[in-house]
Amino acid sequence: FRIPAPFNEPVLSYAPGTAERRALKARIGELSREELEIPLVIGGKEVRTGKLADVRAPHRHAHRLARFHQAGEAEVNAAIAAAREARPAWAAMPYQARAAIFLKAADLLAGGWRPTLNGATMLNQSKTPYQAEIDSCCEIADFWRFNAAFGEQILAEQPISSPGVWNRVEYRPLEGFVFAVTPFNFTSIAANLPTAPALMGNTVVWKPASSTVYSNWFVLKLLEAAGLPPGVINFVPGSGRAVGDPVLASPEFAGIHFTGSTAVFQGMWRTIAGNLPRYKGYPRIVGETGGKDFIFGHASADPDALATALCRGAFEAQGQKCSAASRAYVPESLWPRVKEKLLAQVASIKMGDPAEDFSVFMGAVIDRGAFDSIKSYVEFAKSSPEAKILAGGECDDSVGYFVSPTVVQVTNPRHKLMEEEIFGPVLTIYVYPDAKLDETVALCDATSPYALTGAIFAQDRAVVEQLGEKLRDAAGNFYVNDKPTGAVVGQQPFGGARASGTNDKAGSMWNLIRWVSPRTIKENF
Ligand code: ALA
Repeated sequence: FRIPAPFNEPVLSYAPGTAERRALKARIGELSREELEIPLVIGGKEVRTGKLADVRAPHRHAHRLARFHQAGEAEVNAAIAAAREARPAWAAMPYQARAAIFLKAADLLAGGWRPTLNGATMLNQSKTPYQAEIDSCCEIADFWRFNAAFGEQILAEQPISSPGVWNRVEYRPLEGFVFAVTPFNFTSIAANLPTAPALMGNTVVWKPASSTVYSNWFVLKLLEAAGLPPGVINFVPGSGRAVGDPVLASPEFAGIHFTGSTAVFQGMWRTIAGNLPRYKGYPRIVGETGGKDFIFGHASADPDALATALCRGAFEAQGQKCSAASRAYVPESLWPRVKEKLLAQVASIKMGDPAEDFSVFMGAVIDRGAFDSIKSYVEFAKSSPEAKILAGGECDDSVGYFVSPTVVQVTNPRHKLMEEEIFGPVLTIYVYPDAKLDETVALCDATSPYALTGAIFAQDRAVVEQLGEKLRDAAGNFYVNDKPTGAVVGQQPFGGARASGTNDKAGSMWNLIRWVSPRTIKENF
């Protein structure tokens, strides 16, 4: 059989009066009335440890969405055992039968499950209907449909044979289990990281981010509804150390699919290196980590398009996208117009509870840790003689974790706010003399250790080529005359290099190939 040709799930508008808007509102109402108690799921069985933690709506501390049971070492070892037990039957299943489960899950999501996943994501991540729709509906469905087709392409990749000799490559799953560690900021990443290795025949231990166990729980329930067999993906929320340490110590650990902070990823890499003698093989290490994503404007740019990209790139989803625009370089000649337009747009941003009021553009940042960290950067900017706050700068945690969209102008292009990842709604801008284009491009390349996303704005074609060349290594996803966020599966394979990750593009053949261990077979007739 052939896997159906993949397509991008159309994005619904949620405009007033639409059926999807009514369904989403109704579902949010239902979800809001019910507080969940979320167990671990190991080998298809619910496990309760009694060691409970809360998940709360970021925009309203008073709203507890769920309490969840946290795993300890015994549960992690049980999850590893369940993955071991499920592996033979799952790995032996024909590829199409495995793919069918994820294709069905995509169809269920695009149908009746849509309001549930979107509503849960809005409540748990303080996302607007649009930000939820592109994340927890469209991107998840896209990952599952495109991965199914990409995996089939991998299997079809075969060596040549000759008369009397049949050469072939068998794409075996890895020997052991894969550890999926998922971040708070995208339900789609939480859905992709465990399922991509599973599609290729691996069984998985999945640790979701503690702050979003609620929205991630519905991903698991959806996969179960689509027929995922017990033990293929084992759901073990808990602290990073409590789950990570026993996983990485296991001789059966065969790979990690990670999205999260650079420090955590590098720490795990060191642990894995130290544990190498215990493992059967060299584990696959696939990770996407931090970013300090830039927008570089050239004097030939359209200033209005540049301003809009700055606003949307920096402030959608509260700037809590790894791809969010965080530092910008604007030429003096364009600055008056860009500044006027940007500040007008920022002034019109409505902040609030996006699950309650669909006209809100920005919700709250995810939790106390994020709020305190972002606030410390805002305070630093306020006290810095080299920085000026042009907009925002208010941090209010009385009801939820609200940080207003903040625009900072710096006179020093190596300012701390230009260099460090903030992961929140703070955009730092350096205005450069037009005559210093070359130095400023070099600074843009050298200022941060990251290389995830970046954008240039220029109408001059020769400049587009020059900047593209000079910034060749500064971003894994490079945009010309567009904001650096919003990569679409199948259209812009996503991932960064340098300190931003291993650049094994999510939702692509290059990612899926990391989850197989090919065996070459030569047979003489
Ligand atoms: N894939 C997400 C984006 O491109 C992070 O914005």
